[in-house]
Amino acid sequence: MRTVADLRSLRAAVQAWRKDGQRIGFVPTMGNLHAGHFALVELAHRHADRVVASVFVNPTQFGPNEDYTRYPRTLAEDSVGLVEHQCDLLFVPSVETMYPGGPAHALSIHVPEVGDTLEGAHRPGHFDGVATVVAKLLVMVEPDFAVFGAKDWQQTLVVRRLVQELALPLDIMLGTIVREEDGLALSSRNRYLDAAQRARAPQLHATLQWMRESFMEGHARAAVEGAAMRRLERAGFIPDYAAVRRADDLAIPADAERTGLLALVAARLGETRLIDNLSFD
Ligand code: PAJ
Repeated sequence: MRTVADLRSLRAAVQAWRKDGQRIGFVPTMGNLHAGHFALVELAHRHADRVVASVFVNPTQFGPNEDYTRYPRTLAEDSVGLVEHQCDLLFVPSVETMYPGGPAHALSIHVPEVGDTLEGAHRPGHFDGVATVVAKLLVMVEPDFAVFGAKDWQQTLVVRRLVQELALPLDIMLGTIVREEDGLALSSRNRYLDAAQRARAPQLHATLQWMRESFMEGHARAAVEGAAMRRLERAGFIPDYAAVRRADDLAIPADAERTGLLALVAARLGETRLIDNLSFD
């Protein structure tokens, strides 16, 4: 695996492969890689001749009181894992490469509607930062397809909308959520949890399962959402939302609708904010 930080080297490597007729898959990440990320690299491998991954902790997608400075940066371990999973090229741009005029002065892409609700409402500006950095990375890498995890369901919808409206010539592929045995979705932020919080954390997934059962039994959406919020509070979380939505646009489903839905939750355990979702199909 080659590691490159500058655009010229990135483009030279990718262009050489493309000239050879090779298909290129891309997995963007913020690093501190775990089995969820590596599953995306493996998925990319099954559909590509060459896999490019990026590690960039993107400042513009963090709010002023969020964890940008303490976000775990573990490039040495990440590289070892990527080599094990047969990544061909690792792109590790600097903040200056991604934001030549500085992050505060950068161009910003807003994805309306699907980017405004749920995470977008609770983390103002978050999806602007995500959409902007993903657009930049896709233009820089020029892959045939890019892979995103269903763990960040709303992010996948924001990215799809971005790719569609900018008519970027690539496909988006989704990887399923990788979980611990007790149901907790793998996340770089799980490492912030102390032992007591870690013991409670699986209640997030358990609540999603409870929402699915309760809704499919015929209980009203608003009642299920309210009961899920109380359930999370009893389990020691400070919930931001527990929502049943249409999977393809996050719209509120009609009363009788029972297909194409999912539940999404976001909640804090102490200082650590976790998100998760579960398809009802
Ligand atoms: P990051 O949180 O590092 O996640 C990188 C990719 O891994 C995302 O597509 C995410 O959905 C996926 N992922 C994370 N945990 C997962 C799990 N348990 N199972 C399956 N996939 C999982 O998401 C970002 O970075 C950033 O917003 C980024 C897209 C890189 C833009 O900065």
